[in-house]
Amino acid sequence: MPEIADNGRTWLLSGPTSSYALHLTETDELVHLHWGPGIALADAEALAALPPSERGASFESPLDGREEYPVEGGPRFVRPALSVRTDERRGTEWSYEDFEADADGLRLRFRDAGLAVTLHYRMRGDVVERWTTLRNDGEGPLELLRADSATWTLPERDDWRLSQLHGRWAAESRLTRSPLTYGEQVIGSRRGHTGHQHLPWVALDTDATEERGEVYGCALGWSGTWRIAVAQLPDARVQITGGVGYDDSGLLRLAPGESFTTPVFAGLWSDAGFGGASRAWHAYQRTYVVPDAEQDRPVLFNSWEATYFDISEEQQGTLARRAAAIGVELFVVDDGWFGARTGDHAGLGDWRPNPDRFPNGLKPLADQVHDLGMQFGIWVEPEMVNPDSELYRAHPDWVQFQSGRKRTEFRNQLVLNLAREDVQEYLWEQLHGLLSSAPVDYVKWDFNRCFTDAGWPDDPYPQRLWVDHVRALYSLLDRLRAAHPGVAFESCSGGGGRIDLGIMSRTDQVWTSDNTDPLDRLDIQHGFSQIHPARVMAAWVTDSPNAQLNGRVSSLRFRFVSAMAGVLGVGGDLSQWSEEELVEARRWVELYKEIRPLVQRGDLYRLRPPAGGLGALQYVRGDESVVLAWLQAQRFGEPVPALRLHGLDPTASYECRETGEVHRGAVLLHHGLRTGLRGDLDATVIRLRRI
Ligand code: GLA
Repeated sequence: MPEIADNGRTWLLSGPTSSYALHLTETDELVHLHWGPGIALADAEALAALPPSERGASFESPLDGREEYPVEGGPRFVRPALSVRTDERRGTEWSYEDFEADADGLRLRFRDAGLAVTLHYRMRGDVVERWTTLRNDGEGPLELLRADSATWTLPERDDWRLSQLHGRWAAESRLTRSPLTYGEQVIGSRRGHTGHQHLPWVALDTDATEERGEVYGCALGWSGTWRIAVAQLPDARVQITGGVGYDDSGLLRLAPGESFTTPVFAGLWSDAGFGGASRAWHAYQRTYVVPDAEQDRPVLFNSWEATYFDISEEQQGTLARRAAAIGVELFVVDDGWFGARTGDHAGLGDWRPNPDRFPNGLKPLADQVHDLGMQFGIWVEPEMVNPDSELYRAHPDWVQFQSGRKRTEFRNQLVLNLAREDVQEYLWEQLHGLLSSAPVDYVKWDFNRCFTDAGWPDDPYPQRLWVDHVRALYSLLDRLRAAHPGVAFESCSGGGGRIDLGIMSRTDQVWTSDNTDPLDRLDIQHGFSQIHPARVMAAWVTDSPNAQLNGRVSSLRFRFVSAMAGVLGVGGDLSQWSEEELVEARRWVELYKEIRPLVQRGDLYRLRPPAGGLGALQYVRGDESVVLAWLQAQRFGEPVPALRLHGLDPTASYECRETGEVHRGAVLLHHGLRTGLRGDLDATVIRLRRI
């Protein structure tokens, strides 16, 4: 429940360790006061009473760098969070209306001629969720050129550093950290989906380490085109503004009475270093974002790298028997089971089992999989169509296109215009029908190309297609989840092209990357873990040499321990694995099931980043802990460093389940644990239990 000053103009929201405070000046400017360690209302009031710092004469804005939500217009030169235009004017000059504060947070209402703006604040643990609602209260149309979710203001400090996760296909979520400089650093996607290029997350710090120091993080919950701009202003103040859309050229047109609610832009302050910030983000997502996060995800098998498009009922049955024998709990048939889909050239859009491959539909295979004691899953890519499909032949105008322009194909496919109601209804009927016709427990939902020709010839405001596509995707997922509550969903987009807090609130796990090389994966997983929990991070053990990417040879041990850091899956061609390999795989799967509650629901400590040659993670839950460690290459016969552990009781003793040795907590914390790793691409799992 927010605290409110007696004059009703200063508000304080607090989490277990942090506070956030804002203030409405006498001239109705909404200014930021505090984001950081927990403070009292009296502290916030003292901050509100401070005179604003001197600004340079007539060339600087008295508001820039101070406002909670800078609008366009008036004495402001920062990038506006809100930019609107009507037939009469452009920009906003709002006046304050009132506020509401309750257990659900704080809402502040402002009004300009024809526009109602509500700023929302809600504490979820130490995460502040912020979003904005805009309503056209006028008589004529109102266009939102830009409508960010929120603007975050950092305290005045020297030497800010910016961390971000960048990448591309098969190389997602790689962490970089660099000094922030004057001007703006902009990340985002203009591709129609979240994108492989950046996760919608930034972190800022000045001198944090993995386990110490202040870290500020911001993450956006939107699965379409987006932008986060981090600005260091002329007086060195830092603000971060973010929201839907990449450009400011027009987002939505609101008819009188219509409104737009932005997605949540979540902010987190932590003084426990990058590791502490990650643990807080993970706990937030497990508690408030990810559906059913208290349930562990099953070990899955996925057919993609095993059989690619060459699928038959009999061959999948053979794989299913082998998968069941090594302890797999969920068997997923990937691409190639539907329509005329024997390669990537045809069939997308026709969501009926291929009659040559599955003459009696999917049910016989699903029954077989269930009889083996596993759940059954399938792959779909509903937002796409191959021109060579029954759907496209019947409805060539259902795709995104511009009249008289080329329809750009990527992977021989076009993007359906999900903003159209007939397309939404078609997809609902197809998918609802599919899930009703066969006992399907799991849907891997893919999205394998970016928008290129996002036009809609018959719509007076085709621009809305960008936003409406995502809204249609969300409502389709919501509707399917409601109608089929037993079905779990995976978000995939050529690997990790659609990972964000928005999709995470509607899916049970995500496909982290098409890169299943176990060494590359350690870096991708390191980046992913900055923000997202292991509970949603799917990771498969595939074949060696790695056929898809680099031909790297690695042991089953290394591949398994790499994939055990997330939701374990197996994606290799089990029909080619030897008897010994299958026996070994079974042991790893068994071990994973034992440590699974710690990995999926425990606290994660990143003991060493993978880049240094020796990478290690530790998960702690109650009296148990498990360490996963990977040695890339031992050089010059140097001893492998011991791993200093975290999250243990220094006064307790811990038994190592692998060796039976008993270790003192204080020794593990201050001197470390020897791993026994040696040579190249070695890996180990060490379980500890308090005695
Ligand atoms: C994408 C996915 C893969 C696989 C293929 C199927 O690339 O990321 O895992 O499902 O599509 O075409």
